[in-house]
Amino acid sequence: MKSSATKIFGILTAGGDCPGLNAAIRGVCRPAYDRYGMTIVGIANGYRGLIDEDARILRPEDFSGILTRGGTILGASREKPFKRTAGDDEVSGDKVKAIKDNYRKLGLDCLVVLGGNGTNTTAYLLAQEGLNVVGLPKTIDNDIVGTDRTFGFHSALAIATEAIDRLHSTAESHKRVMVIEIMGHKVGWLALYAGVAGGGDVILLPEIPYDIKAIARHLNERAESGRTFSIVVVAEGAVSTEEEKMDKKERKKYRDQFPSVGYRVAREIEGETGLETRCTVLGYVQRGGIPSASDRVLATSLGTAAADLLARGEYGRMAALQGSEITSVDLGVPAGKIKPVPRDHYMIDTAVAVGTCMGQPQP
Ligand code: F6P
Repeated sequence: MKSSATKIFGILTAGGDCPGLNAAIRGVCRPAYDRYGMTIVGIANGYRGLIDEDARILRPEDFSGILTRGGTILGASREKPFKRTAGDDEVSGDKVKAIKDNYRKLGLDCLVVLGGNGTNTTAYLLAQEGLNVVGLPKTIDNDIVGTDRTFGFHSALAIATEAIDRLHSTAESHKRVMVIEIMGHKVGWLALYAGVAGGGDVILLPEIPYDIKAIARHLNERAESGRTFSIVVVAEGAVSTEEEKMDKKERKKYRDQFPSVGYRVAREIEGETGLETRCTVLGYVQRGGIPSASDRVLATSLGTAAADLLARGEYGRMAALQGSEITSVDLGVPAGKIKPVPRDHYMIDTAVAVGTCMGQPQP
């Protein structure tokens, strides 16, 4: 058995789930147990389980046979212990205190958290409070600063791309415009990649406010040139140029007119072009089911890197992919940030080069 600075650690999965969480749990636990002889405490339902002391020792049989399973064997929640509640100026001290107390009660040397921006921000704040924490970057949104990719993204991309492929044939049969709304929270990574992979004719990202007239012109030109159908890929966070100028209250009123942005875009397209248009909101299927091979590899590699951080006692860090290297960054790097698609990202240029309209206003 190799020596290890960490003898016992807790592990939890927080925020929205994604494919690859179980692969990452296995990636951390296998070497932690087999190579370093650490004791592993599985914490249920994200930070909620640490507040409630809902935890149990994980044995090898718990993290065996889970590589390909979707979801998370630990359960997840969106509990944010530092979040201020409405009308309360103070950070929710009770929850943070409960976490710190239970961390000590369970005798943990470190806490391993698998999560997105919110989770890694909480991890950073807990590290500031004196806990040893190691983070792993998961999310289908791919929006975590400090890592080139998050696990979950590749699986969601495969699902979204297949959905676009399937919409193509029905769009063609019925000569329709098909709008597909893709997840991604406030960023457009998933919509951009799925849109390019699926050959979207229009791709709308939160990073590029769209002008409905520019979209209508593009779709009309396609129709006039004999292309009888079109695919419009819309990120769930997409905003129009009008909306961009609105204050919070006006924006809410504008948004509440439709169940989601995809429906609004579909209605606007029909209104501007007269082309028959349908909307599909892909939703949670993007987060469900087995991880792709690429996500299994990434999640496993990040997990084993986290186990090595534990063994070396390198706390306050998040395992990360940078270029082709698995490395780690200080938890302060992702904390409190999101990573939008840069306007000069090569994938935007790639999309435009193959004739995709990104919805920008035309001069
Ligand atoms: O962060 C992952 C994600 O699926 C986003 O793409 C989406 O906006 C959000 O979670 C949905 O959150 P919830 O699970 O709370 O409905």
